[in-house]
Amino acid sequence: MKLNCNQFWLCSLEHPAGAALNRHQTGGYNHGYNKPSGLPHGGKRQQEENVGTPEVISSGLALGAEVRGVALGSGVDAATIGFIKDALHQHSVLVLRNQRLTPPQQIDFCRRFGKLEAHSHPRYLVKGHPELLCISNIIGDDGEPLGLADAGTVWHTDGHFDDTPNLYSMLYALEIPHDAHGQALGDTLFASTAAGWDRLPETLQNKLLPLKAENSLAAINRELHRRNPALQRPPLSAAWANKVVVHPAVRTHPVTGRKAIYVASAASARLLGLPEQESRALIEQLQTLCTEPDQIYRHRWQVGDLLMWDNCTCLHRLSNDFALPQRRLLHRTTLDFAVPF
Ligand code: SIN
Repeated sequence: MKLNCNQFWLCSLEHPAGAALNRHQTGGYNHGYNKPSGLPHGGKRQQEENVGTPEVISSGLALGAEVRGVALGSGVDAATIGFIKDALHQHSVLVLRNQRLTPPQQIDFCRRFGKLEAHSHPRYLVKGHPELLCISNIIGDDGEPLGLADAGTVWHTDGHFDDTPNLYSMLYALEIPHDAHGQALGDTLFASTAAGWDRLPETLQNKLLPLKAENSLAAINRELHRRNPALQRPPLSAAWANKVVVHPAVRTHPVTGRKAIYVASAASARLLGLPEQESRALIEQLQTLCTEPDQIYRHRWQVGDLLMWDNCTCLHRLSNDFALPQRRLLHRTTLDFAVPF
């Protein structure tokens, strides 16, 4: 029997017997999530903890905050969506912890923020829910990866390589790897490209403002393979392999009007109009500035986290510090599209 993400999810949250079956099918290893009580708290307690007046607790950094007092599974009113959107625009990255979401509930919630994308890696969509991309290092019983094992261990922003990049991404944690001491692995790191823009000297801001960059998915893939030749990814379709898009090097947020640097070392092959060497040096300089270690929000995952980020104002990357039998399984949506300006 071929195991897919959707079946896995059903087994994990709803059917203890199925969970046992899955443990067997996928190689027997578990760190304890494949049972209905796998969330940090049971469903009822989670509902109680998340009900109340929504509040935002900032990380104290340029980006990153937790929203408390919202239980997404029980449906969310328009005022709460507005509250979350405002917080997202202000903090670029938000986490809502201890959520208990079925795939349809995750999709319904994400739809409130914009149109959902059909993803560029169709091989890894959650069966029956093409709006959800499965991100996982788990190998199914057919010997094939369940999901995209590595959606990006290089700094990137989702959809950078597309004509109309996604404004938002949302990632829901079903299984998180741990080390022998119970410490979560596979953190996701975020860096503010808006704060990076603010930190640029005015002369460099003026130089960058009129520039445009060439970006492509093929360039990101080349860099991922250069760093990890063993990386398993299906080859890109001819359309994606040959697609190069030109976007402004500085992006303006369509809602807040905030400016942000919009080049990334892996995706951006060059800044048009500059000599090759100068272009590469400037791209590297900008990324180094945005990703200074003390500016980074590092998300340490818990099962039940719904993490969302604003691609217009941040870069992100996965920390590459886990491997099977440490299992990682998340469902991602990417949504809302805009031509960068
Ligand atoms: C992504 O790069 O979109 C996903 C990051 C992650 O897997 O943590």
